[in-house]
Amino acid sequence: MSTVITNIGELAGAAEDRWLMEDAALVIDGGRIAWAGPSGQAPAADEAYDAGGRAVLPGFVDSHAHLVFAGERAEEFAARMSGRPYAAGGIRTTVERTRAASDDELAANVRRLVAEMARQGTTTVECKSGYGLTVEQEERAVRIAASLVDEVTFLGAHVVPADMDPAEYVRLVTGPMLEACAPYARFVDVFCERGAFDADQTREILTAGRAAGLVPRLHANQLGHGPGVAIAVEFDAASADHCTFLSDEDVAALAGSRTVATLLPAVEFSTRQPYPDARALIDAGADVALATDCNPGSCYSSSMAFCVALAVREMRMTPEEAVRAATEGGAKALRRTDVGHLRPGARADVLVLDAPSHIHLAYRPGVPQVARVWRDGRAV
Ligand code: NIG
Ligand code: FE
Repeated sequence: MSTVITNIGELAGAAEDRWLMEDAALVIDGGRIAWAGPSGQAPAADEAYDAGGRAVLPGFVDSHAHLVFAGERAEEFAARMSGRPYAAGGIRTTVERTRAASDDELAANVRRLVAEMARQGTTTVECKSGYGLTVEQEERAVRIAASLVDEVTFLGAHVVPADMDPAEYVRLVTGPMLEACAPYARFVDVFCERGAFDADQTREILTAGRAAGLVPRLHANQLGHGPGVAIAVEFDAASADHCTFLSDEDVAALAGSRTVATLLPAVEFSTRQPYPDARALIDAGADVALATDCNPGSCYSSSMAFCVALAVREMRMTPEEAVRAATEGGAKALRRTDVGHLRPGARADVLVLDAPSHIHLAYRPGVPQVARVWRDGRAV
């Protein structure tokens, strides 16, 4: 079954030599992009869809989210808005609720959020564990995530459980927990931050994760300056996420590496923190991704469009830089080559905007602008 999308006012991410194409058409065949080019030259297909001059983009790649949880923390958000700072300890509240939930409840929560994301144009989702913090609980989190999202990250090292000694917990994470979780995950992550895990613990956990076949990534420099970014680069991590507090050395290290700086501006919005210096990263030549970090604590938004708007308004990224970071940047952060673009051979993840240009994502913040979404060639 093939579909030709005709009358595309602006087609993004479909050609090797230029990001935008005007007056274009796109052919989906099965689950793949089969052809992209000028409207007048489009080949015939089983079905046609008239885009009516709208913009067509690759579906968003949300490369950082925490969706396996129960409950919510609206009160904590309200307190933060009246001055209480965000701290790593809030995670334990969600751990309690998550441990008490059934498998079905947790799976339903992931399904609900993945559907919410899909309606907003997100077609690739990464999801972490990290609200279980025991071998059994972390294993079920990655197992549930693996059945419902594209990419799974083992984040047993989210925070040390209240009743445990840190060294003993690191032994658990690097031993039996890793062994139980590795079959379901592709990545290993550590919350490297004051109040969570220090540099030595982070290195120990990433080393063990890598030996188990997982690709490192890191929660780095979210709440203050620290060693996270440098460690991410040292381990050739797929990404260093947050990057809110960066030194010049951190920026240079990222620019000289293939570790993607994943910026999560909706977290800064929801925690009243300063925004990361995206300009310094981009101008230095670092790869940048945008993601939501959707979780019940630091940021309960699943909207990539909101992240794009914040990146443009608050972080001085151009609309093109922001949309590329939310698509091909996310793919790079997940070390995926089949998503985040619409060149022939890509997975057919297509977002038709109810707007003539990608600029409208930042120009019309908060406005629903999704006209139609295909994921893997199927209409969402
Ligand atoms: O990415 N920083 C660590 N983890 C999450 C927040 C988790 C929570 O507050 O529940 C984050 O911001
Ligand atoms: Fe996170």
